[in-house]
Amino acid sequence: MKIAQSLQQIQPSYIREILADAQAEGVISLAGGLPDGESFPMALMAQSLNNLAIRPELFQYGHTAGYGPLLDYFKQTYQQADNHSSVVCTGSQQGLDLIARAFLNPGDTVVMEAPSYLGALQVFGLAQANIESIEQRFDGPDLTQLEAKFATGNVVMFYAVPDFHNPTGVCWSLAVRQKVAQLCIQYGVTLIEDVPYRELRFNGNAQPLVSSFCKDNALVLRSFSKIATPGIRLGVVTGKTEWINPLIKVKQSSDLHSSVPMQAVLLDLLSHGQFNEHLETLRALYHTRYLTLAEQLNQKLPAGCKFNHVDGGMFIWLSLPACDTYKLAKAAIDNNVAVVPSAVFYRQGETIYPAVRLNFTNAAEAELETAVDRLVTAINKTLG
Ligand SMILES: Cc1ncc(COP(=O)(O)O)c(C=O)c1O
Repeated sequence: MKIAQSLQQIQPSYIREILADAQAEGVISLAGGLPDGESFPMALMAQSLNNLAIRPELFQYGHTAGYGPLLDYFKQTYQQADNHSSVVCTGSQQGLDLIARAFLNPGDTVVMEAPSYLGALQVFGLAQANIESIEQRFDGPDLTQLEAKFATGNVVMFYAVPDFHNPTGVCWSLAVRQKVAQLCIQYGVTLIEDVPYRELRFNGNAQPLVSSFCKDNALVLRSFSKIATPGIRLGVVTGKTEWINPLIKVKQSSDLHSSVPMQAVLLDLLSHGQFNEHLETLRALYHTRYLTLAEQLNQKLPAGCKFNHVDGGMFIWLSLPACDTYKLAKAAIDNNVAVVPSAVFYRQGETIYPAVRLNFTNAAEAELETAVDRLVTAINKTLG
């Protein structure tokens, strides 16, 4: 059997491919977007998990849109208007896939910032969309480039990660948020606002969602991977009911529904009296780790390497002098530290800025120090 044409051009996820190497004994991984496993809120979920054994009704087939009480919780928490609703998905990654399958025909144009979240590149690639990239500045997308794309009249959606972007860590300013929302309304482009890192802000004040300025022109993807655990595989898409209904239809044919027992556990967790405390602890831990990594880099990096400060999320984007970033990532893993080369975050044929993505949430502080020593050795070796 031949592989479908749509799949032939998709690059496998570099990060998933190197996961085995990155997890090998002795290797410190700054590669994955892994939250700190020891901070999983197991204690807050323990009672709920224990109770599953006496709640057999949760193990019956459920509704495709999601577990009713969880949907009610979202309605209230997100203060959804009467004409808005939610669909729970198997990780926000599935939400993205549902959106692409429900709303894109081959050749339709999707705009994204470059570099881009790899999982989104894969989804839009599989949907055979025409992906057009615009550059990212320190405070969000290049607005001139964005408007020029929108003005062609061909753009169906703009996919964005405005809070602590993956891979760059950039968080959009308020002015950029307002302008992007205005442009989406003006040109009739749907904003796909993907916010898995939004709750991981450890510095400064939260910015409003971009979609709060263009509620009827947006679909919002939220993930519970970073604030609960990735293994429960739960996310949610919210937006106008007339746009959520097609997603539910696609999900019916995809997996019928996401795990109901896990949705019930998630609801118990989100409503737990100590959940906010858990989030505070997590933010404080990630802040400390970020400061450690940043300080180590500042002390040890060779000339020509630089990075911007981040106020949250999971990543530092380390810009490098001209070099082959795959070669550097290989030299790094040979030296027992895993990083992700910038090339994997760009589409083929695009200008690739030499950089590596460094995760600071999974390794402990002492490991971060050793990781930087190893990385600097690999950088010096690669740059000659
Ligand atoms: C920007 C972005 N969107 C979506 C996802 C997928 O998250 P989930 O685990 O909810 O599927 C990730 C995962 O790292 C991500 O970085």
